[in-house]
Amino acid sequence: MAERVSPARKLAGIVRLPGDKSISHRYAMLGAIAEGATRIGNYSTGADCASTLECLSALGVAVGREGASVSISGCGLYGLRDPGRVLDAGNSGSIMRMLPGILAAQRFPTRITGDESVRRRPVDRILRPLEAMGASISAREGRFPPLEIRPAKLKAVDYQVPVPSAQVKTCVLFAGLYADGVTTVRELVRTRDHTELALKEFGAEIDVEGRAVLVRGPARLKGRDLIVPGDLSSAAFFMAAALLVPGSAISIEGVGLNPTRSALIDFLLGMGASIRVRGLEFRAGEAVGSLDVRHAPLRGGVIEKGLTAALIDEIPVLAVLGAASEEGLTVRDAAELRIKETDRIATVAENLKRMGISVELQQDGFHVPGRQRFRAAGLDSFGDHRIAMAFAVAALAADGECTIDGAEAAAVSFPEFFRLLDSLRSE
Ligand code: S3P
Repeated sequence: MAERVSPARKLAGIVRLPGDKSISHRYAMLGAIAEGATRIGNYSTGADCASTLECLSALGVAVGREGASVSISGCGLYGLRDPGRVLDAGNSGSIMRMLPGILAAQRFPTRITGDESVRRRPVDRILRPLEAMGASISAREGRFPPLEIRPAKLKAVDYQVPVPSAQVKTCVLFAGLYADGVTTVRELVRTRDHTELALKEFGAEIDVEGRAVLVRGPARLKGRDLIVPGDLSSAAFFMAAALLVPGSAISIEGVGLNPTRSALIDFLLGMGASIRVRGLEFRAGEAVGSLDVRHAPLRGGVIEKGLTAALIDEIPVLAVLGAASEEGLTVRDAAELRIKETDRIATVAENLKRMGISVELQQDGFHVPGRQRFRAAGLDSFGDHRIAMAFAVAALAADGECTIDGAEAAAVSFPEFFRLLDSLRSE
């Protein structure tokens, strides 16, 4: 489906966003292996988190859903059942890398696959630690989905994660719930800590010591009532849109501001953005607040080293802002971008070029010079939700109407995106 996006005069209004994708996955998976009921409010409306619920149902978990309210009857650490069919992670790399931490410890075998994009994304990063824990898993060519997971008794490990990845950390911590003793996961760069916070909420014995996370197994988790904060990575597109379009002033209510995710706000403030945080509070360990964002001229910036990992999902839309900024945007140490839902270095560059924006590419990053103007163009999501949304933002500042082929990909994380963006147009 192609979406037509016309330039915006200005954006104004208030939006409340669907629940965070990362947190929704974790609450659902932990609810399934907890004892008793878990109720999750403001569950992500995206297709990825629906795939999580489908996988859990296939594993014999009773899951109810009414809009954004999800109820899960937890069946305890060993209450999952043989699905008798291949589990489908859809487009979700998070499911493919996190759920095997639980599946590897079951007393029945499972197979898990995903769509064409997921089947191209490597999973050896989880196979190494899981095998060190005693798991028995085969992957296509030793490193790609589908995975065949055979029953195993897992043992605790002390594992240093070689690439910054919250998904890998989560996978090992989930497996650690099933191992006797303390499993330790060490990170070079601290990644998002939703799993640590969620495990604490569900009653696991978990400690954080610097950049090491320790969990004691076998764990007994207790079902909980939880509300998922609005998704900051979805908010990023609205923040960028308001910063880009002159005269804009918007508010985003009830958004997750976990410090391990909110580097985006500091980075934008460093670029000269006008962002005010209101009403900060904590829910189940997660920071939540509201953001007032106004249009402002941006200076530009450099994303490298640990900051790259902290901003990894926001880089496509930051590239768009970079082109309109004074000094442009430089991104380094970002080889991970090449193995996201698409090769995001290539897909960002292709769409920028179609809009007449010059960009210099490196293997692990790019530079977008500043002070450039967006030309109307035919754009493509390449099947990647964040590319669809990043270039819908760019289209707001173009000199005419743009089309985005495959715009329906936005529904992977944010089905309401185009409707909400339109609701902010104020002519
Ligand atoms: C996620 C971690 C990140 C991120 C992804 C969600 C998570 O992936 O890009 O969208 O929920 O843990 P990596 O772990 O591959 O960095």
